[in-house]
Amino acid sequence: MNSETAQKLAADGELSVESRVAELLSSMGLDEKIGQMSQLQAGGGWIPEELANGIRRGRVGSVLNEPDVKIINELQRLAVEESRLGIPLLIGRDVIHGFKTVFPIPLGQAATWNPSVVEAGARVSAEEAARAGINWTFAPMIDITRDPRWGRIAESLGEDPYLCSELGTAMVRGFQSDDLSAPDAIAACAKHFAGYGAAEGGRDYNTANIPENEMRNVYLRPFKAVADAGVATFMSAFCDLNGVPATGNSWLMNQILRQEWSYQGVVVSDWESIVEMSVHGFTHDDEQAAYEAAMAGIDMEMASSSYRDHLEDLVGENKITLEQIDRMVERVLRLKFELGLFEQPYTDPAQHPEPLNKANLKVAKQAAMQSCVLLKNAQQTLPLIPTKLDAVALIGPLADDGYEQMGTWVFDGDAANSVTCRQAIDELIGHTVEIHHVKALETTRAASEDNFASAKSAAEKSDAAIIVVGEEAFMSGEAHSRANIDLPGHQQALIEAVASTGKPVIVVIMAGRPLTIEAVLAHADAVLYAWHPGTMGGPAIADLLFGLESPSGKLPVTFPRVVGQVPIHYAQKNTGRPATEESCVNINEVPPRAPQTSLGMTSFHLDAGFKPLFPFGYGLSYGRFQYVKITTSHHSISLGQSLDISADVVNMGSHAGEEVVQLYIRDLVGNVTRPIKELKGFRRIRLKPGERQRISFRVHTDDLAFYNRDMRLTTEPGQFHAWIGGSSDAPLWAEFEVHV
Ligand code: BGC
Repeated sequence: MNSETAQKLAADGELSVESRVAELLSSMGLDEKIGQMSQLQAGGGWIPEELANGIRRGRVGSVLNEPDVKIINELQRLAVEESRLGIPLLIGRDVIHGFKTVFPIPLGQAATWNPSVVEAGARVSAEEAARAGINWTFAPMIDITRDPRWGRIAESLGEDPYLCSELGTAMVRGFQSDDLSAPDAIAACAKHFAGYGAAEGGRDYNTANIPENEMRNVYLRPFKAVADAGVATFMSAFCDLNGVPATGNSWLMNQILRQEWSYQGVVVSDWESIVEMSVHGFTHDDEQAAYEAAMAGIDMEMASSSYRDHLEDLVGENKITLEQIDRMVERVLRLKFELGLFEQPYTDPAQHPEPLNKANLKVAKQAAMQSCVLLKNAQQTLPLIPTKLDAVALIGPLADDGYEQMGTWVFDGDAANSVTCRQAIDELIGHTVEIHHVKALETTRAASEDNFASAKSAAEKSDAAIIVVGEEAFMSGEAHSRANIDLPGHQQALIEAVASTGKPVIVVIMAGRPLTIEAVLAHADAVLYAWHPGTMGGPAIADLLFGLESPSGKLPVTFPRVVGQVPIHYAQKNTGRPATEESCVNINEVPPRAPQTSLGMTSFHLDAGFKPLFPFGYGLSYGRFQYVKITTSHHSISLGQSLDISADVVNMGSHAGEEVVQLYIRDLVGNVTRPIKELKGFRRIRLKPGERQRISFRVHTDDLAFYNRDMRLTTEPGQFHAWIGGSSDAPLWAEFEVHV
C-alpha cells in the first residue's frame, strides 16, 4: 500500500475504524510498525534533517513539543505525502492549564470544585491548541498527592480521589469534547500511571511505596474514572513503584489497566522513562528496558530510542511476538483514525477562532475567580468598598508580574497577555481611588529590605494595604520541590513591616502549593489564596477584593501548619490512639521532668498538635453559610439501595455568594480500616442574603464500596456517619446503617 491507498482508506467512510486499522496494519513492515511506536522530539522552530528523514521512512509515529502550525503542517506533509504508507502524525504538547489563554494552575482549578468551569477551561485550551495543529495534550495529571513539598502538586487536582476523579473527567471531556474527530478536539492523556504523587520526601522522581490496598482505594481511583470516561491515552510514571518502575510494571499496565479495566487506548511512556529503567537498576541496558516496557504494553516510547534500536531484534529473537507488536500498533492507529487525522491531517488556523478572544478570557477569569480561596477575613476587612476609599497601597513582588502569575508548565502563554493585579485594580478603581504601588522586593526570594520604608509610607498614606506575595513560577512544577514551604525570602518581614503601620492588611498569595503561612495569618487582617491564577488573575482578584463577586474557592488539599506535619490529609485513618484537643500536649507547657506517660499518648506532634492550619474543603465567603437540619431518608438500607442525605444551607450574611456544599461519609468498621472521612459528593450553590436551600445527596450503597483485604471491591454492611458542611471538618452529622 502507498500513501494513495492510505488516502483511499481515509475516504472510505463506510469501513469501520477496526477494519481500517486491520487493513493498514496488514500492509506494514516491522520497521514501520515500530515507527508508529516512536515519539520524537521536534526541533523547536525548524525540522532537523534526521527527523524529516525518519518521518519519510515511516519511522516516526508522533512528534512532541512543536507549537508552530506551519512546521506542524510540514511535518504532517512529510508523513502523509512522502512516507510509503502516508500515516499522519500524533502531535503532542503539554497543554496543561491553557495554551495562549492561561488558566489557573490545575491545583487552583481544583479549588473551584466546579467541574463545568474546569471542563470549559479544557475546552478553550483544546480549541486554541488545535488551531496550532496539536492533536494530543499530556493532561490531565491526576496523581493524588498529599505532599506540598512535591513541586508537581501544582499540576495536580489535589489530595482526594473523588474530587480528582470528578475534575479529571471534566478535563477529559473538555479536551476531547464528545467527538474526538472534531477539528477542535484533542486527545487527552491520564498521567502519570501510577503512584508518582507519593514520591518519598516530596522529592520529584523519587521512589513510591504504596501498598496495593491503598493503590486501589486512593491512587488508582481517578485513573479508573477517566478510563471509564473514555480518555484516549495514558502516560506511565517515572517512578519506581514498590520496587518495579511504573514503565515496566506489568501488574500496573497489564493486570490493572488492560485486564481489569479493559482499557483500549494508547499508553505512552514518560520522557525517556523506558531507558531510565536501567538507571533505576531494574534493567541492564536499553535493550532489556525496551523488552520490559514492551512486555508491560507501553505502546509508544517518548523521546528515547530503545524501541527503534532494539524491538526488531527482540522480535527476531522471539522474545517479543509480532502479535504483541500488532496490538500496540493497532492502538496507535486506532487513535489516529478516531482523531480524524487520515481525513484531515492539516490545520488551517483561519478555520479556527482566534486565541485569547474575549470569550476565552471570560472563561479564564471565571476560573481564576472561583479558584481563589478566602482563608481569613477578620472583622470583614473584605470586600473593600471603593466609595469609602481615598487611597490603597499595592505592595509586593507579585502585584504586577504578568509572568509569575501564570505559574508552572506554561510553554505557550505570553506574559504580555496577562493582566496583573496592578493593572486590574487600576482599571477598576483607579479613576476614584489613588493607588500607591511599591514592589518592595525584587523577587519573592529577595532579602534586601531597602524598599520597606517606601512600602510602609505607601500604607500610611492609604486606607488599606494589599500585599501580593508568594512563590515565583519556577518554585513549583517538575523537579522543583521544596523542603521548606514557608513564604520565601523576606516576604514575611515585608508583611510585618506594613502591618506595623496599623492599616488594614490584605495579603494575596500566589503560589504553586500550600505554603506554611501561620505567621502570615498572625499579621494579616485578610488572606486570599490565589494559587498561580493565569492570564486573567488580576481582574479576578480585583473583582473579589472590591466585592463585585464573593470568593467561593475551597481548598483541594490540606494546609499544614509546619512542614513536619506532612503528609497530613483529611482522609487519614483513625489509628488506635486518635488525638483529641484534650490529649494534645503543648511542648511549651510541659513541666520539667514530666513523666513520659502523662503526656498525651495519642497521635500528634508535641510542637504542632494534630490539626492542620486549614482543612481540606475549607474556604470563606462574603456570605455566611450556616448548615442545619441534617436528615437521612432512611435509618437503614439494604445493599443495592440508595438513601438521601440532606441539610439546609442558609446564607446568614449580608452578601450573596456561592458555597460548595460537601458530603463526607465514614464507614465505622471495615475488613480493612477505613478513612475517618471520605468526600462522597459536593454541589456549588448560590444564595442571596437570607436565602435558604435544602441540599440532598443521593448515596447508593455502591458509592460506599472499597477494596478489602482480598482486593475485592465491596460494600460491607454496618454503621455509617455522614456529614454535610462547608469543609471536611464540618460538625453537622447524621448516621445510617447498611444491612444485607
Ligand atoms: C513530564 C511529563 C510531560 C513530558 C513531556 C516529562 O518530563 O513528566 O508530564 O508530559 O515530560 O513534556
